[in-house]
Amino acid sequence: MSARLIDGKRIALETRLAAGRAAAELLARTGIVPGLATVLVGEDPASAVYVGSKERACKELGIASFGFRLPASASQAELEAQVDALNARPDVHGILVQMPLPEHLDSDAIIDRIHPRKDVDGFNTLNVGLLAQRGRKPDFVACTPAGVMVLLEHTGLTIAGMDAVVLGRSNIVGLPMAMLLQRADATVTVCHSRTRHLADHLRRADLVVAAIGRPEYVRADMLKPGVVVVDVGINRVPDPTTNKGYRLVGDVDFAAAREVASWITPVPGGVGPMTIAMLMRQTVQAAERAARGS
Ligand code: GUN
Repeated sequence: MSARLIDGKRIALETRLAAGRAAAELLARTGIVPGLATVLVGEDPASAVYVGSKERACKELGIASFGFRLPASASQAELEAQVDALNARPDVHGILVQMPLPEHLDSDAIIDRIHPRKDVDGFNTLNVGLLAQRGRKPDFVACTPAGVMVLLEHTGLTIAGMDAVVLGRSNIVGLPMAMLLQRADATVTVCHSRTRHLADHLRRADLVVAAIGRPEYVRADMLKPGVVVVDVGINRVPDPTTNKGYRLVGDVDFAAAREVASWITPVPGGVGPMTIAMLMRQTVQAAERAARGS
């Protein structure tokens, strides 16, 4: 059997276009342009590329983008003052402080300084706490796991009752992913680098979300036939046959796993494009709520 591919590129494009339509509709109805502020501290090249992609996506969709660059030497007080100023601006509906911050800065304090209603990254303690509690609703959810849920919706599968394994427990992906799947009534097991008998857990799973950051760590023999595989990993492995000298692989051995799984996301073109698409969706939602005064 060869698995059906979950086409993240196409679904991300649809999600972005829907966000653009919602932004245009909001503007026509209220005169409000959704606005996203991006804050980049220091010169990390990968972070600069990510922030650039987010700013470009805004411009394509009719979302105002306000870019702020602080030197790597910026103090905690300076960064907090920047966040405070953005919290107070009515034309800024979402605030994104690109992580990781330089070592000397307290990221947790910065994340929690962002007003929860502008926390379009969904990293704020209040939003994570609301996600964790039954019957409560966070304003925003971390974009990558929220994007995984959209990919799963597109398969038409019923998540309720599934045995799901989330591999990885980061604050950005693994933890909120597990909470989202639990809210969708899956039975969730979180595995990580210290898990004993990982293959036993994986072989029982109807759904595997791999977010451990190790190239091709999940092998086909660890998977149950018919499993749904979502691969969040994006790892560079050396490959002298390519122009760049490397290629991108996920946390799952894709070629072998697709012969076992029923559905699988490719890398690249699976989960990756969903992160920015969800950020755009959440920024427009933030503006819609501000317009409603709710
Ligand atoms: N660093 C890596 N991914 C992200 C993200 O989704 N948001 C922010 N703010 N920083 C990141």
